[in-house]
Amino acid sequence: MSVKLAVLGHGVVGSGVVELFYKNKAKIEKRAGKELDIKYILDLRDFPDSPYKDKFTKDFNDILNDDEVVSVAECMGGIEPAFTFVKSCLEKGKSVSTSNKELVAAKGDILLRTAKENNCNFFFEASVGGAIPIIRPLHKCLAANDIDKVMGILNGTTNFILTKMKDDNMNFEDALKLAQELGYAEKDPTADVEGHDACRKICIISSLVFGKHVYPKSVYTKGISDLKLCDIESAEILGYSVKVIASVRKLENGKILPAVMPMLVPLENIISGVDDVFNAVMVYGDGIDKAMFYGRGAGKLPTASAVLGDVINTVQHDNTVVSQTWESVENNDFVAPIEEFKSKWYFRVPLDCKKVKTESYTSDDGISFITPKELTFAEAAEKIGELNALAYIPVLD
Ligand code: HSE
Repeated sequence: MSVKLAVLGHGVVGSGVVELFYKNKAKIEKRAGKELDIKYILDLRDFPDSPYKDKFTKDFNDILNDDEVVSVAECMGGIEPAFTFVKSCLEKGKSVSTSNKELVAAKGDILLRTAKENNCNFFFEASVGGAIPIIRPLHKCLAANDIDKVMGILNGTTNFILTKMKDDNMNFEDALKLAQELGYAEKDPTADVEGHDACRKICIISSLVFGKHVYPKSVYTKGISDLKLCDIESAEILGYSVKVIASVRKLENGKILPAVMPMLVPLENIISGVDDVFNAVMVYGDGIDKAMFYGRGAGKLPTASAVLGDVINTVQHDNTVVSQTWESVENNDFVAPIEEFKSKWYFRVPLDCKKVKTESYTSDDGISFITPKELTFAEAAEKIGELNALAYIPVLD
């Protein structure tokens, strides 16, 4: 008899999980070492034309109370009811694989503990980097390293928008609309545009690498809503591309500094060439020096691929806990404030500014230049006032 699976949510990712599962069923079963089938798909909407219409249920209890279901893919998004559903499944010993970064960033510690207590697994490879394997490499393949920095591009939608603006002269609104049509953006795309999605992902990576739960509210987060096309163009002339960089690094004082913000990336840095919906994550460790992970960061089948990889893993490890845990914490006092961040900065100042003494580029929009020295956020703020700066963006070293 086949092992029974359930999929919670039939949106972009959930429908991708069902589609990819049936497309590659024979291969998936071979790799899992067992016959598998999806018994339920949970969604409140009706899908009368779906070839899988007999599998739909609107009642979560059908799944929870069915002892045949041993592995559940959660693709609903949001914290509730996803948290309640996932926790109840784990309490019943059903392993869960999720693509829901909001859930993992908010409640990952609790769900990992619940899985361990109930002899099952909670996996979330699809929650960071879409198709890219990054969670399992950090947890398993790179486990022998002292990892002191992880950084990269973790939001496909903003990377897609920035690429379309730069290469195709598309305006922000049209590029966002296209990203939504292609199924890259969140239900509420402000989570992408304002950096919250990338923030959740760097929280998950930080918690995993440094062993304590990092909450989104502790992380400095800035999106792309006030970025101007003229700054993207000036940056390119100065030898940089503009990317939303999510990063976390260990400081000398033992604290960690996670952050999400647009940054100028030197064109010779491989990250500057990561375009469209692609994500890239660079991991720095004492054994590996550095390793880069690259691939499609969003979209139906790329994300479904990561969810199903986890589902296969749950089936292979039935009744064995192989998922990691990290500490629950009272507060995030081990997270350093953004004031400890230092970098060179890009400034655009008014055309009549006489104080620019360094190499610069002048256009109708102002004079653009990179500060010769690194500045903290406080020092940059002082300079912004002094120069009446029209734009200011930190530069990746
Ligand atoms: N909205 C997300 C992104 C989806 O654009 O990266 C993948 O997590």
